[in-house]
Amino acid sequence: MFAAQDDVQVRHESLAALGEARVQADKLFALVRSDSLYERPIPERHRILFYIGHLEAFDWNLLRGSIPHPPSFHPEFDQLFAFGIDPVGGGLPTDQPEDWPALAEVHRYNHRIREALDAAIERPAFWKSTFDGFPAGTLVNVAVEHRLMHAETLAYMFHQLPLERKIRQGNTPAHTAQPLALGMVEVPGGVATLGLSRDSPVFGWDNEYDVHMVSVPAFAMDRYKVTNGQYLEFVDAGCYGNRSLWSEAAWNWKTEQHISQPAFWKRRNGRWYCRTMFDELPLPFDWPVYVSHAEAAAYARWAGKKLPTEAQWHRAAYGTPTGSERHYPWGSETPDRAHGYFDFKRWDPTPVNAFPRAASAFGVAGLMGNGWEWTSSVFEAFEGFQPFPFYPGYSANFFDGQHYVLKGGSTRTASCMLRRSFRNWFQPHYPYVYAGFRCVAE
Ligand code: AVJ
Repeated sequence: MFAAQDDVQVRHESLAALGEARVQADKLFALVRSDSLYERPIPERHRILFYIGHLEAFDWNLLRGSIPHPPSFHPEFDQLFAFGIDPVGGGLPTDQPEDWPALAEVHRYNHRIREALDAAIERPAFWKSTFDGFPAGTLVNVAVEHRLMHAETLAYMFHQLPLERKIRQGNTPAHTAQPLALGMVEVPGGVATLGLSRDSPVFGWDNEYDVHMVSVPAFAMDRYKVTNGQYLEFVDAGCYGNRSLWSEAAWNWKTEQHISQPAFWKRRNGRWYCRTMFDELPLPFDWPVYVSHAEAAAYARWAGKKLPTEAQWHRAAYGTPTGSERHYPWGSETPDRAHGYFDFKRWDPTPVNAFPRAASAFGVAGLMGNGWEWTSSVFEAFEGFQPFPFYPGYSANFFDGQHYVLKGGSTRTASCMLRRSFRNWFQPHYPYVYAGFRCVAE
């Protein structure tokens, strides 16, 4: 009896979550002017139009197997919009706007898919079936979190559009700044639990398994993320031109791309500005700097420190003096406005010290929601990793030694992905992520 009730509740929650994810993504596309939907704001990614078709094609390719006699709306689009791109080592796309279908045709495709999928997954029978041994709810979670991740990565993409191609949605209210007491916090040695138990009812992606413990020796960690103000000292010290601070690959990337400052900064009339989603602001010194992994690592070297490993980050964020571990840095309360901005509540960062209540047991502050944090850990499989049979490439395609783990979350990260075991990853020379860093000393 209880089981049946639970099933109904799970079903309703999943369908509501899918509806909300659609609303978030649809709202995001609405900020792009209609004459700009065939633009390619980031050279390493597809044109915007691709993503309009992709979100629906992804769900369709994932879930149509669960429909008894799935109609075939547009097999060519199912392929065309199946996968995004993340080229390793150059090889940028060269397609032209004319190579892509008309917007109205893509909208028609999307509309038919949503109708067919909604009809299918509203049937109780769908929720009784399993897929390669996984319950239907797991596949719906995959669809929901996939879409929510794109709602974040599309925000990075639209951030790079010229302001005149965007329609302002809300503003970035100022945050009263408190004086900043920079410095490091001691984190005693102890255990960090990484990953997610297969027994947990919580949804996790393939790369979050298996759960395991790592013993972490004592270290010190920056209390706050590195700020724009701190990073400006690195820039002003001429560090973009200091060969000894950069790896060979980073130096070559920086030279070839003519990079001499963070991608989110702009210099005008001798003054620094921050390019926010809809404005340019005089550089806020107490916001976290958003940079690539290569830039973060060079700064850490200059400071005589390092980027944290994934296990150190866990230890600092979730460990406690008594040896137990927390679900979130602040404890077990679900994330809300007392802990920061996330879940699409704000476009741009806040000062790094804006949410003292969200600090970890060891006093490390601002770990969630004000920008992802780069780690020094290469994105790799945990022991016991098994790819999802219905989406084998989600993680495995990126176990190539060319991606680094990020932890935490940004203002555009959905709350569900602030769970402890969630792992994000990007290439070290990708400067468009809402990601900063903090350093450790051993
Ligand atoms: C986990 C955010 C790195 O955007 O490349 C979306 C998520 N994978 N569609 C990415 C993803 C396929 C992925 N990240």
